[in-house]
Amino acid sequence: MRIAIAIDGPASSGKGTVARFVAARLGYLYVDTGTLYRGVGLRLLRAGEDPADAVAAGRRAESLRFGFDWRDSSLHVSIDGEDETQNIRGEVVGRAASAVAVHPGVRAALLQTQRDLGARGGVVMDGRDIGTVVLPKAQLKIYLDASLDERARRRHAEAPGVPLSAVRAQLAARDAQDSGRETAPLRVADDAVYVDTTGRSVEEIVSQVIALARERGA
Ligand code: DC
Repeated sequence: MRIAIAIDGPASSGKGTVARFVAARLGYLYVDTGTLYRGVGLRLLRAGEDPADAVAAGRRAESLRFGFDWRDSSLHVSIDGEDETQNIRGEVVGRAASAVAVHPGVRAALLQTQRDLGARGGVVMDGRDIGTVVLPKAQLKIYLDASLDERARRRHAEAPGVPLSAVRAQLAARDAQDSGRETAPLRVADDAVYVDTTGRSVEEIVSQVIALARERGA
């Protein structure tokens, strides 16, 4: 059976890496839903609009046309026909994404795109509200976590230019915004398997998720 796997968790918990490996191992599609929020953030910043402006952000989310393409075994994202895969990365766009993600109008506008991708089955989808809101019937839900210190160390290793203490503060602020918002906050779904990745290798976590997926019929 080609099941749907939802992987949620805070920034730098290892969601993307684990989801990518699990999808590759099972021959499933990997869908990174953060790219949608990042896309809205990017286009607002480019237009000189404020991500905190609910009306501007909602309008932007409704009008953008997202395209996903799984070329060369990685996920490419286009917005209105333009490849934005590289441009949506980075902390500035990530912060804008987290800011636009608090607006209910933005979340509503992006919901159907995510559900359509999930409805294909054979998908590993990562985000903050996949198990709780987007795919409540996913056969397997994983909540990946790691201590704030460990997540800060991981992110710092990827972008050593920013001091560790600043990276830690940025992550704490992102956690507060993603978990504290009223609409679809980051939380552990009742039927999710909670996995703490602190001190564990990617390979260990991937094997655990694959084993769980097999139990659920993958
Ligand atoms: O996973 P990420 O860092 O690319 O996500 C960027 C922001 O997008 C994150 O801080 C909150 C928001 N987001 C969300 O609210 N819901 C999702 N399913 C995915 C991302």
